[in-house]
Amino acid sequence: CVLCSGAGLPGAVPSVSGEAAGGFCSAEEGSGSRFGETQSSQGESGDFLALDLGGTNFRVLHVRVVEEEQKMLKMDSQICAIPQEMMLGTGEQLFDHIAACLGDFLVSQDLKGHTLPLGFTFSFPCEQKEIDKSILIRWTKGFKCSGVEGEDVVKLLKEAIQRRGDYDIGSVAMVNDTVGTMMSCGYRDQSCEIGMIIGTGTNACYMEEMKNVKRVEGEAGRMCINTEWGGFGDDGSLRDILTEFDVVVDETSINPGVHTFEKMISGMYLGEIVRLVLVRLAKEKLLFKGQTSKDLLTPNTFQTKFISEIEEEDSGLENAQNILTKLGLKWDDVDSRVVRLVCDTISSRSARLCAAALATLANRIRVNRGLDHLKTTVGVDGTVYRKHPNKELQATVRLLAPKCDITFLVSEDGSGKGAAMVTAVAQRLALQSRL
Ligand code: GLC
Repeated sequence: CVLCSGAGLPGAVPSVSGEAAGGFCSAEEGSGSRFGETQSSQGESGDFLALDLGGTNFRVLHVRVVEEEQKMLKMDSQICAIPQEMMLGTGEQLFDHIAACLGDFLVSQDLKGHTLPLGFTFSFPCEQKEIDKSILIRWTKGFKCSGVEGEDVVKLLKEAIQRRGDYDIGSVAMVNDTVGTMMSCGYRDQSCEIGMIIGTGTNACYMEEMKNVKRVEGEAGRMCINTEWGGFGDDGSLRDILTEFDVVVDETSINPGVHTFEKMISGMYLGEIVRLVLVRLAKEKLLFKGQTSKDLLTPNTFQTKFISEIEEEDSGLENAQNILTKLGLKWDDVDSRVVRLVCDTISSRSARLCAAALATLANRIRVNRGLDHLKTTVGVDGTVYRKHPNKELQATVRLLAPKCDITFLVSEDGSGKGAAMVTAVAQRLALQSRL
């Protein structure tokens, strides 16, 4: 089971062996019961911890896998906020915070003293050397903790746990959130071979034929590739379609020149794009009688969630008016309609760009297999996907990949459960190789 993942669509590299996808066929929720079962020494059953770090919050989960019944139960979970200063602080502070939250969770679950295996969903571009060794290539999505880029994040996590010295963890398996999502959807629908996230950031992974994976020896079977498609365009290839607003969003971000495609699509940036368009329209005297407000002129005041509120079919216009009032703007009826149109345009562009990338992956899978027609499932997660109308995304994929019949499956606790699943399989494989 070879693992490695990398950055940027053109140089897509493998993330997790396709072999790991086998094993589970159905899922069910658990209900907060306590740790109690003995860890199976042979199969994939047992209790697992999952850590999910990728946005402004991180989650800790206790997952129980019951292989015989083919069930994956989320026993309990806890969300810990990551304060903005910590996202920009030192790596040591960040990992100490994660270790502290994990420690609190273990106490609350009565799990302290049990050395459980841990699935670590770390959703940033990494070069994955082993299942438990993954080097951060660069931070994305508003993180910029010092001393982590170029380092093995599993090692940093383990060191933070050792610094505390009050609990321990078992073997660690690291995955990207796209892989966790694909894996967790894979047991509900075995034709799931793409995992896609449209949330704070955007990315996708897909099953590639081993013969096309030059970095790894062997021709047989398939391997999951983490495309890091958010980095598409960093070589200038999107220059023709970047707007003046995209350029400002990039220049004022903490990582200029990095993750260009993501900055046109994902939740971290959409609200800011809308704000910049509104400022420009106001300055051109096409909105608010040429007036702006202090709030409208302040970066990041127009939250991405406003877009979906304004897009709502029935209450959208009223929502727009309330939001504009809160931003200190004097609007009339036409203004609120124009603002709605701007929101529709920016979210529709996001959906279409995402669809273009997804259609490319689906077409590639189809051509790889020499098929005239491909039926496949995409496991999806992320607030932007969940909260925005997705008709446009689906219609554009149909248009661009007419020979692919794609079903979208929204993952439930995807990255956490998926990470637990990978940990379970990795543990079984390690045991088998020792026998
Ligand atoms: C960013 C990260 C990527 C992650 C995506 C979605 O693009 O670089 O690893 O999968 O966000 O969370």
